[in-house]
Amino acid sequence: MFNDIYSGKKVIITGNTGFKGAWLSIWLSKMGAHVIGISKDVPTSPAMYEELDIAGRIRHYQEDIRNLAKMIQIVDSERPDFLFHLAAQAIVSVSYSCPMETISTNVIGTANILEALRLSNHSCVAVIITSDKAYDNIEQLWGYKENDYLGGKDVYSGSKGAAELIIKSYYQSFFKSKDSNIKLAVGRAGNVIGGGDWAQNRIVVDCMLSWGNEKKVVIRNPNSTRPWQHVLEPLSGYLYLGAQLYKSDELHGEAFNFGPRAEDKYSVVNLLKDLSAYWGFPNVDDCYAITGNISFHEAGLLKLNCDKALYYLKWHANLEYHEMVRLTSEWYYTFYRGESDMLEKTLSQINEYESLAAQRGLPWTE
Ligand SMILES: NC(=O)c1ccc[n+]([C@@H]2O[C@H](COP(=O)([O-])OP(=O)(O)OC[C@H]3O[C@@H](n4cnc5c(N)ncnc54)[C@H](O)[C@@H]3O)[C@@H](O)[C@H]2O)c1
Repeated sequence: MFNDIYSGKKVIITGNTGFKGAWLSIWLSKMGAHVIGISKDVPTSPAMYEELDIAGRIRHYQEDIRNLAKMIQIVDSERPDFLFHLAAQAIVSVSYSCPMETISTNVIGTANILEALRLSNHSCVAVIITSDKAYDNIEQLWGYKENDYLGGKDVYSGSKGAAELIIKSYYQSFFKSKDSNIKLAVGRAGNVIGGGDWAQNRIVVDCMLSWGNEKKVVIRNPNSTRPWQHVLEPLSGYLYLGAQLYKSDELHGEAFNFGPRAEDKYSVVNLLKDLSAYWGFPNVDDCYAITGNISFHEAGLLKLNCDKALYYLKWHANLEYHEMVRLTSEWYYTFYRGESDMLEKTLSQINEYESLAAQRGLPWTE
């Protein structure tokens, strides 16, 4: 996988205690990487980080990315070969209650990581994760391309757009130079689902929490559609981007969208019904209730155009919709019914994902 580039390498993951960071830690450890995590806390309870005892498999720093001195010290002493920056205030609703925390974490925190890299004196490939929300959502029906306008109407989007401007300016000012020891690229992805997420105000998480506790899930917008994808999809993109950057300079400074297939678009209610099939509800309509109570503005459809990833990386989403739904629902069902070891379950899902990708000829599987 990934030309075996990660085996034996030192990899820093910021945000390793979060949803994507936990999956990425497991995948990289499985490939023989030495993972080093930086997170300020374990953001949820339960959390995949704790349920899978990820702390026992990696070196972890409990630090705030807003602490520049600490970031410099960690990057300097660890001398990582790779850095995946995922630490963020990642919840849109929280950006309404805590706008300054969102801005300081997503903008200044990202700047601190870039500054720590700039001051380091060893070679490192950095993949900086932002979001599809970095794009100025003008509610267009077709997908956003990497060179579309950044920004947004809410603080979360603004913070992600601002982080992108900082990343670009660091690239132009420092890392673009032939003498720079840092190679960097940006990964942008949208709504991800999969086992092990317990962050608030995410629809699949709400479902699994409710169903795990034998309750109906309460939903807001049953007919709204989102381009959902399994968490392993963008992670395969970030990992392949890192591997390609390591081998050549061609993609240095570039941003890439990683999204589901263009035709994949499902309403909340359809997704719920499909997920519920694994939970044995006698009647699918029993699994949810609808509320009219909407507490904050949610942007409409935002689709990503992923032609650039297809062209340069030959990357496209691997899973069919029904495979994404099955992997997600099975993970939580196993967790809530206590039927097997969750580390084993997670590793077996990564193995299945890899072998489906290999059968489908995705080049990152080589
Ligand atoms: N999950 C999604 O659907 C989704 C969609 C688009 C983009 N993203 C982006 O992917 C990245 C990871 O998302 P996630 O879903 O894993 O997030 P998450 O909320 O599950 O985890 C966030 C992580 O960041 C850490 N963190 C937060 N503030 C910090 C700080 N000040 N200092 C150090 N660590 C801090 C937390 O401890 C945690 O490890 C984020 O940049 C997010 O915006 C996620």
